[in-house]
Amino acid sequence: MSAAGDLDGMVVRRMRAGEADTVRQFLAEHSPAGRPPHRPGWFEWQYVDNPDGCDVRVCYAGARLVGASGFIPCTLRVDGVPRRGAFSTSTMVAPAFRRRGLGRAIHEARTADYDVALSSGQSEANAQVYRSIGAVAAGAYRRCLAQTRRPRVRPRTRVAREVLSWLRWRTSARSSAGLAVRIEDDAPDVPDHCYTRRFDDRAIGPVWTPEHVVWRYARHPYFDYRFAAVLRAREKLGFAVLRPNAGGHTLVDLYAPCAAQPAVLRAVAQAAGPVSGQFTGTMLDRVFRAAGWTTWPASHRLVGKSNDPGLHRALTERSWCFFGGDSDADR
Ligand SMILES: CC(C)(COP(=O)(O)OP(=O)(O)OC[C@H]1O[C@@H](n2cnc3c(N)ncnc32)[C@H](O)[C@@H]1OP(=O)(O)O)[C@@H](O)C(=O)NCCC(=O)NCCS
Repeated sequence: MSAAGDLDGMVVRRMRAGEADTVRQFLAEHSPAGRPPHRPGWFEWQYVDNPDGCDVRVCYAGARLVGASGFIPCTLRVDGVPRRGAFSTSTMVAPAFRRRGLGRAIHEARTADYDVALSSGQSEANAQVYRSIGAVAAGAYRRCLAQTRRPRVRPRTRVAREVLSWLRWRTSARSSAGLAVRIEDDAPDVPDHCYTRRFDDRAIGPVWTPEHVVWRYARHPYFDYRFAAVLRAREKLGFAVLRPNAGGHTLVDLYAPCAAQPAVLRAVAQAAGPVSGQFTGTMLDRVFRAAGWTTWPASHRLVGKSNDPGLHRALTERSWCFFGGDSDADR
């Protein structure tokens, strides 16, 4: 084992043009079958073509590639000021090179180069690495469900949850009078505030662009997404991004000003339900509940670290809002 910073001559640096194939093969070689690194087109789409920036870190021991991590950059608005964040995805160190400080060096490179480093799900070992660099829990992911049809017989906990959600839906959220929903294959053209006013003043969340939405969903190499636009007369209130599943839809993202979100969620569930999904942030929890959705804890946490003491404090003091589509929770 090495002390932090002493990597026995191994280096961590940015992936260069021309290295993508080697890195993709390295990730596939060390990942279980069926995981994204084995899927055609995933690496190029996820990292090389990401309009928010391509930032894959690689670790070499001499000429040998022994580690990699793909950073997914995002802009966060904190008290009106844009800050740069990055999720890490597909972090992998070759088994023979583990416990030599490479995992920590990758995450420390991220906190050095971005205002805040985030993670939406950690393996046992990676959770330990985050602990070792002083990362904190910024929130817990929650699952959400609008059960709009009478539930079918299923394993017990699931049916209990579906019955509760169905009753809640019937009593509190069925009405979406005056709203129309259009389910389309292309991202709808909506007013800017659907992108810029998604979170209230105290909450912190990603500020994405229409270009990001097109890349993330419409150009995904192996998932099919639909866009559910909600209109009141001719006014576009916002849209949700949905992925069809066996029983209905998974909601992976939402673009509407926070005050309009309960109405948009209600109308989307009415038109496309049952709808389930996941998110983090107490602000979003209030929104889903106001729309008549049921929410409950998921098994993973949002973890973060910032070298800026004010931003690091904000990780535990503020509501950090992300949807399933924002990191690698829906890949
Ligand atoms: C997670 C992973 C990237 C960590 O890489 P690593 O280079 O071994 O991590 P480091 O050597 O930098 O570990 C830093 C500290 O984290 C802790 N840690 C790391 N791995 C640990 C493990 N398996 N068990 C307990 N603690 C661990 C230790 O405190 C370690 O410091 P120490 O070795 O001085 O005690 C590596 O285990 C891996 O590739 N795992 C398989 C893929 C994976 O799980 N990726 C993460 C997806 S979320």
